[in-house]
Amino acid sequence: MTETSIRRPFIAGNWKMYKTAAQAAEYVSGLRSMLPADPKVDVALAPAFPALEAAVRAAAGSPIAIAAQNVFWETEGAFTGEVSAPMLNDLGVELVIIGHSERRQYFGETDQTVNRRLKTAVSNGLRPIVCIGETLEQREAGLTFSVLETQLKDGLAGLDHETAEKLVLAYEPVWAIGTGRTATPEIAQEAHRFIRHKLIELFDKRLANHIRLLYGGSVKPENTADLLAQPDLDGALVGGASLKVDVFYKIVDIGCQVTA
Ligand code: 13P
Repeated sequence: MTETSIRRPFIAGNWKMYKTAAQAAEYVSGLRSMLPADPKVDVALAPAFPALEAAVRAAAGSPIAIAAQNVFWETEGAFTGEVSAPMLNDLGVELVIIGHSERRQYFGETDQTVNRRLKTAVSNGLRPIVCIGETLEQREAGLTFSVLETQLKDGLAGLDHETAEKLVLAYEPVWAIGTGRTATPEIAQEAHRFIRHKLIELFDKRLANHIRLLYGGSVKPENTADLLAQPDLDGALVGGASLKVDVFYKIVDIGCQVTA
C-alpha cells in the first residue's frame, strides 16, 4: 500500500463472515484486473481469517492490500480461537480492522481491548483501522459526541505519536451499518470534524491532519461521491457493497474521480 501523500483517499472492503478462500482468490484476481496499476486511492480488502492466505497470494504485486478483521493482543499462548499479529505477518497481511461495532456488540469488545489490540498490531507492523461509532439509542439521546470522545480517549490511550502516525480511523455509526440507512454527508462530516478536533487534543494538529478518517455504514456507488466530497472524509469502509467485485470497483473508481 502506497503512502505517497498525506491523506491519500482510502477505500477498504470489509467482507465480514463472507467468502471462502477460493471465492476470495477469484474476487481479488478480478479486482486487480479492473484496477489501474497505480490507482489514485489506496485499496484494501478484509477477508475472514481462512481466506487471508489466498487473498494475499492473489493480491501479490497489485495495489490491493489485505487486512484481517481482528487480531489478539498476545503474540502466542493458550488462547483458543484467537489469531496473533505474528501469524498475520507470516501470511503477508498488511492491515487489521480493530474494534468493529460487530465485535463490540456480539463479542464483548471494549475500548480497553481495542487499545490492547491496537498497540500489538502497530508494534508488529500491522496498520490498524480502528472503528468507532455510536448506536441509534446513543444518537437519539444526544450522546454521539461524548460516545465518540470516550471511544477515542480510551481506545487510543497511551499511544505515542509514532504509533498514531500509522492509524486509520473509521467512523461507523451503528445505525447505518447494514441497514441501508446511510448517514447523510452532513451528518458524517459533522462527526468526522469532531473526531479530527479530538485528535488535535489527543495528539497535535499535524497528526490530526495526517490521520485518515474513513466513513462506514451503507456506503454504495450511489452515495460515495457525496460522502467523499466532505472535507474530513478520507475514504470509506464498505461492508455489503464490497461483496460484489463490480460494485466495489465502482466505489473505488468514484474515489479515484473525486480525488482527480
Ligand atoms: P455496510 O456497508 O454493509 O453497512 O457495513 C459497513 C461496515 O460495517 C463496514 O465495516
